[in-house]
Amino acid sequence: MLRNIEEILKENKKIEIKTSEDLEKFRLKYLSKNGILNSLFVEFKSIGGEEKKKYGKILNEFKSLIEKKYNENRKYIEETKKEEKNIIDYSLPGTPIKLGSLHPLSIVQNRIIDIFNKMGFVISEGNDIEDDWHNFSALNFPENHPARDMQDTFFISKEMALRTHTSSVQVRVMEKQKPPIRTISPGRVYRNEVVSARSNCFFHQIEGLYINKNVSFADLKFVLLKFVEEFFGKDIKIRFRPSYFPFTEPSAEMDIFLGTETEENKRLTKGTGWLEILGCGMVDENVLKNCGIDYEKFSGFAFGMGIERITMLKYGIKDIRMFFENDTRLLNQFAGL
Ligand code: PHE
Repeated sequence: MLRNIEEILKENKKIEIKTSEDLEKFRLKYLSKNGILNSLFVEFKSIGGEEKKKYGKILNEFKSLIEKKYNENRKYIEETKKEEKNIIDYSLPGTPIKLGSLHPLSIVQNRIIDIFNKMGFVISEGNDIEDDWHNFSALNFPENHPARDMQDTFFISKEMALRTHTSSVQVRVMEKQKPPIRTISPGRVYRNEVVSARSNCFFHQIEGLYINKNVSFADLKFVLLKFVEEFFGKDIKIRFRPSYFPFTEPSAEMDIFLGTETEENKRLTKGTGWLEILGCGMVDENVLKNCGIDYEKFSGFAFGMGIERITMLKYGIKDIRMFFENDTRLLNQFAGL
């Protein structure tokens, strides 16, 4: 048996373990159930007396040599494998990063804000949920005005509703701030309307307010003309038509001239060439009074426009619902704008 072990050891020394396959072969040959080590131990059982002590020692030494070689190589192979995983191939092409895009409504809103910022208007924002006072009463809506009706307004309780316009924000500004006031209020507004290609139960507005000494309708016209010239281009034509809002007196609606050359413009303007884009007027004295502003000293104008409408016009989008579907086929077209 001694000779046998010596030979096995010699052979074992020659074995090189380089891969995990080599390691497995080594394990099967020496350390498995049917491996050499086990068979030596089986043989060892039949030895008796003095011999047993001697072989026992040799056999145990042999066993630990084999096990040591196995474990050392296993550790080495596992570690190199780990390192290989961490190797970076710098020649590989990079993973492309998909650039997002601003929503078309944000693009147009930012543009409008920019233009009014340049004219000295600062942004004010409020909450989507508003009380009756700020959305209606302070704005001179008579108690039984149809706009308060359940058909137009999403009421949350008797007192609270989803704001139907951002004029509510302007009431809050006037309550807090002394004139001169020059502010624009962008934001989402809600109306209980039947959803269709042309109207949605929520949309976005920008409303403006200017209060100072001696503000006149001429100032209102000038500011709005400058705005449309910046937004649509110098050649734009506008007109004002009388209208009614509870919070302005006189009130007007402003149209821009699209013409009737294209079928699309004919359709949009119902054959007239003119398209309404905003409501405006001189702030009603009652509103100034309600907000604690001295209406004998100060006057002002207000205006409000729907962002969806202007965005649809600018980009030829025909259905308002497309803004809220988040279909990337639409949104991707605005990447980089
Ligand atoms: N608040 C009005 C609306 O929601 C718009 C408007 C604002 C009209 C200011 C006149 C003055 O339709």
